[in-house]
Amino acid sequence: MLVRPINPVFAAEVSDVDLCQPLSDGQRERIENEIQEFGVLVFRRQPITADQQVAFASSFGPLDTGLQTKLLNKVQNRLGHAALSDISNVDASGQVADRQHKQTIMTVGNMYWHSDASYEHHPFRYSILSSQAAASWGGQTQFADLRAAYDNLDERTRDLIRDKEAVFYANYTRDFLGIEDDEAQRQTYPPVRWPMVRTHPGSGRKLIWVDNKVFKVLGMSVPEGRVLVHELLEHIGQREHVYSHTWEAGDVVMWDNRSVLHRGRRFDLNERREMRRVSTVDDSSSLGELSFDELPRRWMAPENAEHAE
Ligand SMILES: [Fe+2]
Repeated sequence: MLVRPINPVFAAEVSDVDLCQPLSDGQRERIENEIQEFGVLVFRRQPITADQQVAFASSFGPLDTGLQTKLLNKVQNRLGHAALSDISNVDASGQVADRQHKQTIMTVGNMYWHSDASYEHHPFRYSILSSQAAASWGGQTQFADLRAAYDNLDERTRDLIRDKEAVFYANYTRDFLGIEDDEAQRQTYPPVRWPMVRTHPGSGRKLIWVDNKVFKVLGMSVPEGRVLVHELLEHIGQREHVYSHTWEAGDVVMWDNRSVLHRGRRFDLNERREMRRVSTVDDSSSLGELSFDELPRRWMAPENAEHAE
């Protein structure tokens, strides 16, 4: 197995391994070690089947099946497997979906910086995405290294966020984008609190823990917190922290949701972009869930809440 860095600060390409075959113990350990350091591993020319992708992912821990069963089955279940997420603009009949189709809307929603399942009490560790059909223009997946972003953060901002907690909510970005989810869907995942600075257990490095699901920083007014998160996301997304992956059919990319954010990039929605994802569940847990009943009060600092009532 060969591992070659493809960016000055993170991300590597792995070759001389066949993901269609079961991994040996040595290969599994090597991949697990490399992803701790690099955060993103790219495997080119690996046309794996869905079953092979599930088997590969299973080598790295328990698979998430909650997202598919709680949410995505309500969109469609084209792939028919609880561990497989359909990351495509393809409808249940296999045709390119209409722009208004929920599946296409979901694809558009993935274009904001996020870590998969950051809004869950038990988030994801690794995600493994494979491409079956790539767009001819755009449609890249970009990754941003949260550890490098922390290292490059100015001292004063580091002090500001050191002991702060951020509240992540699954539907925050969807609400902002104007996606009209019903109340049942909006109440699938309660908001969760996370420290804004975490230590990555694999590399021991500190990182900034925010993404576009953060709607509130505890101890700040809502506007002040949102401006801070926006500023941090701009900092994280600067070119020197970003690797942009241009897809070809047959590519497999594995990333560590604990150390990098990612986002899809625009492409022509009339073109087929077809991918599937499997994710493993992390053993970390948030600082706690907030009750939905508490949400309106908890969203606002007390002085703002008075005016809202
Ligand atoms: Fe994602």
